Amino acid sequence: MRILILGGNGQTGRLVIDEALRRGHKITALIRNPSALPAKKGLNIVKGTPVEPSDIESAFNAVPGDLPTAVIVTLSSPKEKGTRVMSDAHENLVAAMKRHGVSKIATMASFGVGSSFANITMIMRWAISHTSLGYSFADHDHVDEILKKSGLKFVILRPARLTMAKKAPVQFLGDDGKGLGVFAGLGGISRASVASCLVDAVEKSTWDRSTPVISN
Ligand SMILES: NC(=O)c1ccc[n+]([C@@H]2O[C@H](COP(=O)([O-])OP(=O)(O)OC[C@H]3O[C@@H](n4cnc5c(N)ncnc54)[C@H](OP(=O)(O)O)[C@@H]3O)[C@@H](O)[C@H]2O)c1
Repeated sequence: MRILILGGNGQTGRLVIDEALRRGHKITALIRNPSALPAKKGLNIVKGTPVEPSDIESAFNAVPGDLPTAVIVTLSSPKEKGTRVMSDAHENLVAAMKRHGVSKIATMASFGVGSSFANITMIMRWAISHTSLGYSFADHDHVDEILKKSGLKFVILRPARLTMAKKAPVQFLGDDGKGLGVFAGLGGISRASVASCLVDAVEKSTWDRSTPVISN
């Protein structure tokens, strides 16, 4: 399939591109600075930003006759008051996906978003409530709402602390992340494992319309 990726230039996004290409998929990546991403066979790079609806539309139309049939999002959001990078990107995506009849989207969020807030460590709960980290979590929370009411086949993965370790077996917990214990998520999950789960999520229907917390 052709997969559209937003955030393909980031640490997890690059691993998603490699994993998807390895599995034989083709990729369209919407990137603000295309020269930052090395060219690869099967990878089409479109210059633009996910917060601009016309750039999302250009990314959908980048390869005539070969529309993306799924979307993967590995964006981050600046830790700034009122940030809406993730929310705007998802509102633009939902509109474009509906226009083009595309129904599958897998988004990387974070353990601590939505119903999983109660089960992260006390220190993370404090940081989200009292520091600028809360601004990006508010943006993630908004994405949760946007996708849940979109009618699309969404999967929102809520990974624990991200590491650069190798791909390793993944535990899928419930939406609230109960079961990771007091040091919830501090052991973390490798970005390579998350990348693999995101590609799995668009290939299969196993996690459709769910928001699992994941950890190695
Ligand atoms: N750190 C953790 O332990 C942890 C744990 C769980 C979940 N998360 C979540 O994981 C995500 C970060 O993953 P990562 O470390 O792989 O990301 P990353 O390397 O920081 O990459 C972020 C991507 O988002 C894009 N981006 C950032 N700000 C943007 C803006 N204003 N407009 C357009 N694009 C923008 C970047 O594009 P440019 O290259 O153009 O800037 C880049 O492609 C965050 O959403 C975070 O909440 C993090």
